[in-house]
Amino acid sequence: MSIEKFIEGIPKAELHLHIEGTFEPELMFEIAKRNNIKIKYSTVTELKNAYKFNNLQEFLDIYYAGANVLIHENDFYDLTWSYLNKVHEQNVKHVEIFFDPQTHTDRGISFDTVITGIYKALEDGKEKLGITFRLIMSFLRHLDEASAFKTLEQGLAYKKWISGVGLDSSEIGNPPSKFERVFAKSIEEGFITVAHAGEEGPAEYIWEALDLLNVKRIDHGNRCLDDHKLVDRLATQQIPLTLCPLSNLELKVVTDLKDHPIVKMMDKNLLVTVNSDDPAYFGGYMNENYLGIAKALNLSKRQITELVKNSFNASWLPDTEKEKYI
Ligand code: ADE
Ligand code: ZN
Repeated sequence: MSIEKFIEGIPKAELHLHIEGTFEPELMFEIAKRNNIKIKYSTVTELKNAYKFNNLQEFLDIYYAGANVLIHENDFYDLTWSYLNKVHEQNVKHVEIFFDPQTHTDRGISFDTVITGIYKALEDGKEKLGITFRLIMSFLRHLDEASAFKTLEQGLAYKKWISGVGLDSSEIGNPPSKFERVFAKSIEEGFITVAHAGEEGPAEYIWEALDLLNVKRIDHGNRCLDDHKLVDRLATQQIPLTLCPLSNLELKVVTDLKDHPIVKMMDKNLLVTVNSDDPAYFGGYMNENYLGIAKALNLSKRQITELVKNSFNASWLPDTEKEKYI
């Protein structure tokens, strides 16, 4: 069986996905039109041509601008439903997705509008497509602690729907320590914690995420390889890293997929997983991410199977559900 068919056929889980990062240009134009909002670009092609990034911040500027057209509950529903249908075609069985409430509440959209639209689509995805899910509310780290606390307060009313809290956006200059108290309160309220760390930022930020935010997974974590003591800690405790190969390529975290550290990390006994991050912006969903590294790094079917199993292992599914896949 070809490597393409093998990757397509194997049931997969996605653990690092920003729902706002699944906003395909075609849907963006459709929603902009029905909401009477003008997009800076006049055609889908023109918009897609703008997707050339030299770093994380250049991407974030375009990503936040795109999210501006999302106004109504059904916009958030359509966004999420469209993503679920895409990954259903790719044999993804379980998703743990981020949403960024502040991206929307700061523009006057209510927290309820955002989460209800997303959640209804996730429920429909479970019922109609058989995709199980968890929802993670992510704080924007370029904003201040007070704003994160306000967001946490808003999320408390939807505790039943939200499994965890995360930390994303501009990493350098916004260390995890900035949010130590928000994360402590989040844990007290029963949320699991994760954080983006070591994508562009230093290994020190990964230590902080572990020690100050008590995270159960590190999102990205590429820079851990700069610090062998940190690698030892992550390996010994089997703290999962949610890697995003195409994102790393597009944001110039790596210059070529052949240089992607995933195999090096597996060799160091790190629990690494493959994810798409912001697939509409980085040129691929789950299968494209797996295929990208499989080809660039000449991965065997055994290695791909191990990566897939890692994802189910690192997920927040109960053991009885995990066992179906590992
Ligand atoms: N928000 C969306 N994608 C992100 C990424 N790759 N890093 C940090 N924040 C993000
Ligand atoms: Zn991310």
